[in-house]
Amino acid sequence: MIKFSFRRWLCSCLVVGLSCCLLAGCSVNVSGGKTLTVATEPTFPPFEFQGKGGELEGFSIDLMRAVAAAANFQVEFQSLPFDGMIPALQAKTIDAAISSMTITEERAKTVAFSRPYFKAGLAIAIRADNQDITGFDSLQNKKIAVQIGTTGAAKAKSVTGAQVSSFDSAPLALQELQNGNVDAVINDAPVTLYAVNTGNLQGIKVIQQLLTEEFYGIATAKKSPYLSLINQGLATVFKDGNYQLIYQKWFKSTPPILPDKLPFANSKADKLNSLSLLLQALPTLLIGVLVTLQLALISVIFGLIGGSLIGILHLSTIKPVRLLTRAYVDFFRGTPLLVQIFMIYFGLPAIFQEMGFTFSLNRLVAGVIALSLNSAAYIAEIVRAGIQSIAIGQSEAARSLGLNSFQTMRYVIFPQAFQRMIPPLGNEFISLLKDTSLVAVIGFEELFRKGQLIVAENYRAFEIYAMVAVIYLCLTLVSSQAISRLEKWMKLRGV
Ligand code: ARG
Repeated sequence: MIKFSFRRWLCSCLVVGLSCCLLAGCSVNVSGGKTLTVATEPTFPPFEFQGKGGELEGFSIDLMRAVAAAANFQVEFQSLPFDGMIPALQAKTIDAAISSMTITEERAKTVAFSRPYFKAGLAIAIRADNQDITGFDSLQNKKIAVQIGTTGAAKAKSVTGAQVSSFDSAPLALQELQNGNVDAVINDAPVTLYAVNTGNLQGIKVIQQLLTEEFYGIATAKKSPYLSLINQGLATVFKDGNYQLIYQKWFKSTPPILPDKLPFANSKADKLNSLSLLLQALPTLLIGVLVTLQLALISVIFGLIGGSLIGILHLSTIKPVRLLTRAYVDFFRGTPLLVQIFMIYFGLPAIFQEMGFTFSLNRLVAGVIALSLNSAAYIAEIVRAGIQSIAIGQSEAARSLGLNSFQTMRYVIFPQAFQRMIPPLGNEFISLLKDTSLVAVIGFEELFRKGQLIVAENYRAFEIYAMVAVIYLCLTLVSSQAISRLEKWMKLRGV
């Protein structure tokens, strides 16, 4: 008789389930025609965005579908950060990118562009009550927010004395302006105007005069076999009136005449060798290291103070105090740090503004608050467990010697517990050090963000991110060495 083994049954289920998932993930398109993976960053309405039901919508999306139908291929859209598109094209992990990408001479050295499909330009957005900024020249010494890796970011860099902060998406940069943390945003005019006109962005106005004239193109890798296919599709939709229909649908007007050629040739880049590239990047990355260390050290100090307090309070005999500390730990351990950073930096000022208060948070302060609150939750657990690990006889002995409860904690329990807490506290510091990279999302230029900014300019993702990783590794190795020395030293001193 075959014996039923629950373990074996569970294993087979897992194997079958996993195989099904893998097969589904790797499924090949069998509907005929090639399938091109086309990247887009869907936070750029009306060009590419997610509709109410989560499906992709927009001018570029409709256009790409029409181009595919005209040239007889299928499209599979893939969401990707805008600054990751060119590296992804170079690595050939995607076949093309349609993301309101301006055809620039610099980019054309790294990727190949289709013929232009849209005429746009950059515009400055400011708060509606701002009388100060009237054009490009008045941006000097002002605070400007931009989306990382865009032409808007490049333009902002050319403003003398400006403090530029870069965000992962255009809506985040605009939110920054709305929250009063910056004076202006430089972004593609149709996108900012769309946000203002649809009422999604309130209290913001757009300076009419355009800063540039730009043309969007569909990008592919250099020498991609798909470029001619895409150009052929584009030519058809321009001719058969489909382009005009799509333009009319999204912009309620007739399209301007577009050049049928690129403003300059799809040229070749003069590639810097890896060593010189890394040497060039090193000083900027080292500035990032200082910022990362500053952020980690300040946050760990506040985290230690807060965490010790919460950990000790958690051992209180008063039930509501215990419940409160439990709730704190559960909340900060149970929600992603990234969400907490967004809540503090973008959410808090927005709430205050709705209540009629002006309140803006400095990036460093917001980063430190988020990291300290989060690490305090973990440290609290370490402290609590450390204290509870000391045998009860110790405090009984201390009490019988006449020490009060504070003295018992201060001289007997805590010193012993602290020694046990060092290894987990060290782990906590190391994860905090790595977590500082999440603060990049609020435009804080720590080590990782510095790397991203360099890649946004030279598109050498592998070398730069590898270097960033090595620097983080050095930082964590040095920290763990320091922590184990501290541990040994404390043991020797018999603390
Ligand atoms: N046109 C600008 C550029 O190429 C911005 C494009 C941003 N696109 C996006 N989907 N976020 O740099």
